[in-house]
This record gives sequence, structure tokens and C-alpha cells, in this order.
Amino acid sequence: MSPYQPRKSGGVAGRRARPRRARAGRSERAAATQVTIEPLGPAHAPALQALASDPAVLATTNLPSPYPPDGAEAFIRETTRRRQAGVEFVFAIIAGGRPIGCCGFKGVGGEPRSAELGYWLGQPFWGRGYATAAGRQVLAFGFGPLGLARVTADCLLTNRASRRVLEKLGFHFTHEGPPRPDQRQEPGDVLAFFELPRGAWGG
Ligand SMILES: CC(C)(COP(=O)(O)OP(=O)(O)OC[C@H]1O[C@@H](n2cnc3c(N)ncnc32)[C@H](O)[C@@H]1OP(=O)(O)O)[C@@H](O)C(=O)NCCC(=O)NCCS
Repeated sequence: MSPYQPRKSGGVAGRRARPRRARAGRSERAAATQVTIEPLGPAHAPALQALASDPAVLATTNLPSPYPPDGAEAFIRETTRRRQAGVEFVFAIIAGGRPIGCCGFKGVGGEPRSAELGYWLGQPFWGRGYATAAGRQVLAFGFGPLGLARVTADCLLTNRASRRVLEKLGFHFTHEGPPRPDQRQEPGDVLAFFELPRGAWGG
């Protein structure tokens, strides 16, 4: 289980439906100019350690909870190893010159080639379009140089912000169900699962 991995998202059936929006609107274009991504490395650890230790972030992700004192360093070591093996590509999300969260792909492989998207932001940075802007950059890498044919994602059924991010990125809902064995299990958790084939990605 990758600690950057999403764990939860908002309701699907019987909840307020918003139109899908795979193209960037004005606020997202502003966010896109403020956010960059760069391969996760040791220099990002102190900032991410502080942001990931927030219970509000832990509540809807697969990050270990409580977050260990060396959680960011340990994860960066492990994901760097998996990057070298070609199966995981995690990025720091940068705004204002500092790391504000993580995003990236795990489980890269298969035929056709696919991967799972994950992301989280520190709480002070929520609600500014940053996750969507970072997600677009990661998908450009995934459908470009990484050569993915399909990207999947999931989140808690109750995590409406995350579900909305996926909708804005062009993902479509496939099904809901319990967490997989490799995901953190909490009693009663229901996940919403999504996918985005390369042909449906708007760029
Ligand atoms: C989920 C998360 C990544 C969203 O990041 P963000 O930068 O705030 O996302 P964006 O601003 O790009 O988009 C959020 C969208 O959700 C909407 N939203 C936020 N809270 C909502 C709610 N309670 N109900 C419905 N929509 C909601 C926002 O209005 C926005 O949609 P809009 O642009 O149509 O107005 C961030 O909240 C986070 O890191 N949470 C903790 C960790 C986590 O849950 N990670 C994902 C695990 S799947």
C-alpha cells in the first residue's frame, strides 16, 4: 500500500449530480499556473512530514495513522526504489516554492499498460484547484512519456472533494465496493472506483 494513495471519496448514487467537466475552467487555469510537480525526493520530507501528520489528511487516505515520526522519509526511500523499478512514480506538488502534497502513479504495468492515480494535499491548500491542476500534470506524464493506456483511481464514497477532482479530470465512475486487501480497512468503508482510458483524456 502506498501512503500517498487515496482512500476515500464522495457518494455516487443518489447524490447531487454535477455535470462532468474534463476541461479546465478559469479558476483551474489560475491554479495551473501556481502548481508544479517534481519527482519526490529527500528534500521534500520535512514539509510533507508536517502536512501528512494532520488527522484531517489521514482520515481519507491510506497514509499510516497516526503518521510515524519518520513517515515521509521512509515513504520517499521506498517510492524512490519503486521508481527505479519502473512501477511507481510519485511527485511532490509544489506551490509558492514549497511542497504542499503528493501525487502520482502506483502499480504501473500490465497489458494494456495501466496505473493507479493517487494524491493528497496539506489542509491549508485545499479548495484552490491545486489537486486538479497537479492531477492534469501527472496524467500528461502518464499518458505521455509513461505510455499508459488506462488510469484507475478510487476514494472513499464519502470523500466528495476527491470524487469531484476525478470528475474534473475526466474519470468516469465504474463501481463501488469494499477496500481491496492492499488498502487500509476501516469498518464500514465503501470505496468509489473510477477509470480514465487514454482516449477519453482531454489533456
Ligand atoms: C481531496 C483533495 C485532494 C482535493 O484537493 P483540492 O485541491 O481541494 O481539490 P480541487 O480544488 O482541485 O477540487 C475540489 C472540488 O471539490 C469540490 N468540493 C470540495 N468539498 C466538497 C464537498 N464537501 N462536496 C462536494 N464538492 C466538494 C470543490 O468545490 C471543487 O470542485 P469545483 O472546482 O467544481 O468547485 C484534498 O481535499 C485532500 O488532499 N484531502 C485529504 C486527502 C485526500 O482525501 N486525498 C484523496 C484521497 S482519494
